[in-house]
Amino acid sequence: MTRRDAGEDWRAFPAGSIPSKASTPQLDRFLEGLRPQAAAARPPTLLDVGCGTGRLARRLFDAGFSVVGVDISPTAIDEARLLAVPSEGGGAFLRFDVADISAAERPRTDGAPFDVAVCQLVLSIVGGVLERENLLRHLHEHLRPGGGLYLSASGVSDSINAGYARLYADDGPLTGEPYSYYSRDEKGTILYTTHHFSAEELVALLEGAGFVEVHIDTEREASSRRPDEAAFFHYVTCRRG
Ligand SMILES: C[S@@+](CC[C@H](N)C(=O)[O-])C[C@H]1O[C@@H](n2cnc3c(N)ncnc32)[C@H](O)[C@@H]1O
Repeated sequence: MTRRDAGEDWRAFPAGSIPSKASTPQLDRFLEGLRPQAAAARPPTLLDVGCGTGRLARRLFDAGFSVVGVDISPTAIDEARLLAVPSEGGGAFLRFDVADISAAERPRTDGAPFDVAVCQLVLSIVGGVLERENLLRHLHEHLRPGGGLYLSASGVSDSINAGYARLYADDGPLTGEPYSYYSRDEKGTILYTTHHFSAEELVALLEGAGFVEVHIDTEREASSRRPDEAAFFHYVTCRRG
């Protein structure tokens, strides 16, 4: 077993190549449900966890939220800060900070507790079980009671993609966990560890961290780094209990 340091992998990852999703209809629906809050006199606060270079955070700011984006990658945050907007006269702001959200210790995030949190494509790539539990615990601590969470994560995809079946079989013994494998570049160099979740596994993790009203939509789509590869994605909404 050759367990990698996920934090080191992401600190070294080129900011311009951070995987994302261009189309996010599930997130758009979640935000639509929050529209009355976003129209209130005081803009609701939103934490974007693993914000990368800040494009999604900027969209969330444009949707009426005061947004704090955090990411472990200092180079991604340098780029994101070009999009930052200071608060004027109590209006919405957009800020970015470097933070490791899956470390054992709770990161110091200016602005907590937040009304809403968004965590897109991050839970799958923070390392192993412990890091995922830390991430969800910190997310829970960063939300006000009743605050809403939107989270997306990769799903177990061997039933629709034989390539993933091979990856799970080959890499599971190396990563030490079933359905965890190494995402590699075209030359075969390992970039980072990815875990694919079953819906039941996600529900258990979220409920274990104290989230309630967990709702999951599972969609068949294309892999975020390899558009020609079919993959399942889970789209989760829940609340801090
Ligand atoms: C697959 S990208 C998703 C980026 C963004 N959420 C989006 O959907 O466009 C994963 C992001 O999580 C960040 N990340 C990885 N581990 C992290 C950690 N422990 N704490 C904070 N951010 C982390 C990476 O640097 C990267 O920007």
